[in-house]
Amino acid sequence: MVTKLQIKDLEMVFDGKRTLNKVNFEVHDGEFLSILGPSGCGKTTILRILIGLLEPTGGRVYKDGVDITDEPPASRSMGIVFQNYALFENMTVLQNVEYALKIRKENRSREARKKVRERALATIAQLGLSEHADKMPTMLSGGQQQRVAIARTLVLDPDIILFDEPMSALDVETRLSLRAELKRIQQEFGTTMIYITHDQEEAFAMSDRIMVMREANVVQLDTPENIVDHPADDYVRSFVLRNLQIKIDSLQKCARVRG
Ligand SMILES: Nc1ncnc2c1ncn2[C@@H]1O[C@H](COP(=O)(O)OP(=O)(O)OP(=O)(O)O)[C@@H](O)[C@H]1O
Ligand SMILES: [Mg+2]
Repeated sequence: MVTKLQIKDLEMVFDGKRTLNKVNFEVHDGEFLSILGPSGCGKTTILRILIGLLEPTGGRVYKDGVDITDEPPASRSMGIVFQNYALFENMTVLQNVEYALKIRKENRSREARKKVRERALATIAQLGLSEHADKMPTMLSGGQQQRVAIARTLVLDPDIILFDEPMSALDVETRLSLRAELKRIQQEFGTTMIYITHDQEEAFAMSDRIMVMREANVVQLDTPENIVDHPADDYVRSFVLRNLQIKIDSLQKCARVRG
């Protein structure tokens, strides 16, 4: 297994309060890794440090063996998708997707712009949005807008995509179809994905490995099977497995009601 990211002794102190307490973990190349943990345990802080929006108070981040802790976000080849899609409302879907490519210096020529347009349209098609390419974001549903946000990240061809609760504003059906979409993209392009979720069932359904956090610390990082078979402690047993069972039970109940 090839190591994509190595996080060493990562530490973040905000106003004297420790948000990350010497966190260590590795992410494999092409892996789907979920981060699961209660509100305030430091999940978003990790993603912001990984992508370079936040400078850690201690520790290092290595990508492909190179220390990138002090690299600017633009040179990290990482993309991020947030819960609220943050699309440009005054631009069409196509314009949203091609924007970041278009403003690159090397894409100023007419020839290059034509290629950018083709690439944007291909990515839009990949996410099933072709018929919406010329619409404004406000004309789309939440799930469609989140697809645009994913297309906008994907078009830049990052080798790592970070997701911060990308589905939490969406209904169950939309979540399920987007889940399948993300897995397909991960498998087809070999993109490494790190995915924050509050939904235990989602983490277990999608991940190669799950990182369970509690108050600034990593409690367990393992495959879903190993977490079920060998939970690290009572916390994992109650926070992860109990909630997973509750979720599965309610899904089964829904299925029964629907007949
Ligand atoms: N810029 C900041 N300044 C001060 N404190 C911060 C800042 N960013 C985060 N924190 C604090 O760090 C802790 C962890 O925040 P973080 O956003 O990483 O949590 P989280 O695990 O993503 O939670 P949630 O599930 O609610 O999104 C919180 O106590 C938060 O208040
Ligand atoms: Mg968060």
